[in-house]
Amino acid sequence: MPVTSRFQKRRVVGLIRMQVRDAQISEIGRLATIWYDGWQDAHARILPLELARLRTLESFDERLRVALASVRVVGPADAPLGFCMLRGAELYQLYVSSQARGFGVASALIVDAEARLGDSGVDTAWLACAIGNERAARFYEKCGWHRAGTVIEHLEVANGTFPLEVWRYEKYLRRAE
Ligand SMILES: CC(C)(COP(=O)(O)OP(=O)(O)OC[C@H]1O[C@@H](n2cnc3c(N)ncnc32)[C@H](O)[C@@H]1OP(=O)(O)O)[C@@H](O)C(=O)NCCC(=O)NCCS
Repeated sequence: MPVTSRFQKRRVVGLIRMQVRDAQISEIGRLATIWYDGWQDAHARILPLELARLRTLESFDERLRVALASVRVVGPADAPLGFCMLRGAELYQLYVSSQARGFGVASALIVDAEARLGDSGVDTAWLACAIGNERAARFYEKCGWHRAGTVIEHLEVANGTFPLEVWRYEKYLRRAE
């Protein structure tokens, strides 16, 4: 049964402790669906159709398989609610299922990601956000990230890269000793 009302969402997400853990191989299918659905929600209306055609469920499944070691999730075993993926100093991907948005899953994931980036020696973390993805932009800003500018990113696609102008966000991670 679809979870629709705010009350129902609160019950579903309220049952989940916001513990962040490593993704498991058995969860790739569910994570690919979260990524695909979230990409459609956030980007289909604001990004080129040519890019949307490349963002298939299968493409996300493949990318998750390759990068699984860098993926952290929140949610029950085999039913994750969202994930975060790092790549070097970049907070590379952050997606939460629509039913779990607004309840702290994304905050738990980004706190964990910042800690891992800091522990790996990154001073200034960065991320790319599609121009016009206002919900994500608001989320990053309330988490202390700032928009550093607009840059051309060469996005990973099946047979190479796809150039796209994006908002670049940064966050300085080092605290005073
Ligand atoms: C981006 C994402 C991870 C954030 O997680 P979340 O649980 O939605 O985040 P929150 O609800 O804590 O914060 C979102 C904020 O944006 C606000 N917001 C919602 N819709 C908005 C809109 N259309 N424009 C501006 N702000 C909006 C919310 O009110 C909230 O702000 P508030 O806490 O001050 O009220 C999640 O929305 C998501 O997975 N989106 C789809 C995929 C995506 O865009 N990923 C990021 C790619 S860069």
